[in-house]
Amino acid sequence: MKKTRFLFSSGSTDCYFNGAFTQLKRIADPANTIVVTDQNVYRHHRSIFAGWNTIVLRAGEEYKVQATVDALIEQLVSLKADRTTTLVGVGGGVITDLVGYTAAIYMRGLRVGFVPTTLLAMVDAAIGGKNGVDVGVYKNLAGTIRQPAFLLYDISLLSTLPTVEWQNGFAEIIKHAAILDASLFGTLEKRSLPFYQKDRAALTALIARNARLKYKVVRSDEQETGNRKWLNFGHTMGHALENQYQLSHGQAISLGMMTAAALSYHYQGFTESARLEELLALYGLPTRAHYNLKKALSVLRMDKKRQADRILYVLLQKIGKATVHPIRFGQLEKQLGKQL
Ligand SMILES: NC(=O)c1ccc[n+]([C@@H]2O[C@H](COP(=O)([O-])OP(=O)(O)OC[C@H]3O[C@@H](n4cnc5c(N)ncnc54)[C@H](O)[C@@H]3O)[C@@H](O)[C@H]2O)c1
Ligand SMILES: [Zn+2]
Repeated sequence: MKKTRFLFSSGSTDCYFNGAFTQLKRIADPANTIVVTDQNVYRHHRSIFAGWNTIVLRAGEEYKVQATVDALIEQLVSLKADRTTTLVGVGGGVITDLVGYTAAIYMRGLRVGFVPTTLLAMVDAAIGGKNGVDVGVYKNLAGTIRQPAFLLYDISLLSTLPTVEWQNGFAEIIKHAAILDASLFGTLEKRSLPFYQKDRAALTALIARNARLKYKVVRSDEQETGNRKWLNFGHTMGHALENQYQLSHGQAISLGMMTAAALSYHYQGFTESARLEELLALYGLPTRAHYNLKKALSVLRMDKKRQADRILYVLLQKIGKATVHPIRFGQLEKQLGKQL
């Protein structure tokens, strides 16, 4: 099995980009491994779990909470998990977050690996070692930073993924291209969602490229360059809209990227908003919406990236080049008011 090693100051992650679930037994001993998945993944792919000790959790962001971690820990105790046990999270970002966090705290740390089963988890959530749970309205408030021992990619698991989940993944992929990789942006412009759903080799290459992009940003931030903030491109306004309206994460950050692109024109002379808009639309993502600006701004005022009366906004200088720019709330209201 071909292996790519991601090195971090606190450990390393072995990535098997062209893998298959059946190869899991080569990296985790079935006799001493507990696999954790969610009900949807289990329902669609029941047969792959044969021969593995498997815990099935309820699916959905509302279960990414401490109570689920507590219940999972109790199940680990009854299965007699000890410090030699490997935990493997098989699922989307909710599962990788829950399992990564639980593995970090159970007996002060078990070996953990992930088999990401959503496009978003493959290119984003499974990478970087930040894992945690939501507390009330606060997303990912409690958690740990600890790198998984391995990531096993089996893209055949994506065959059952609903379209909206594909779009959520592509929103993060377009984000990566916009902030870091102009050539990837150009490639995406020439292709489409149905193309990637059909072409295994192209999809595998796309996923590996995006996993590397996220890894590089996370790794460079260990050296405190602050680049990890770039990954928030589109997420400032995106989160404000996601909370207020019934939007998927991908739809919300798509709108957030368009807002950031307009601000980028004003503050950075960014001239490629139309290109970004066309690419998002090509992958089925929304680019224009009427929303309550006052309400959105009141959510932004509580944002973690706020500094007194300013917010640190991730903007684009050009496609493939991000920058962080402080914007005063008064200015933000004026600029965004013009767009609506
Ligand atoms: N730790 C990080 O750095 C990081 C980064 C980004 C996102 N996240 C977290 O990831 C979560 C979002 O991840 P997600 O979008 O994967 O959500 P998710 O785990 O909720 O998965 C989305 C839906 O798809 C279902 N599903 C998963 N795999 C499937 C498959 N192969 N076939 C059919 N259905 C399948 C799930 O059951 C769920 O209903 C959020 O909680 C977010 O905070 C974490
Ligand atoms: Zn996101």
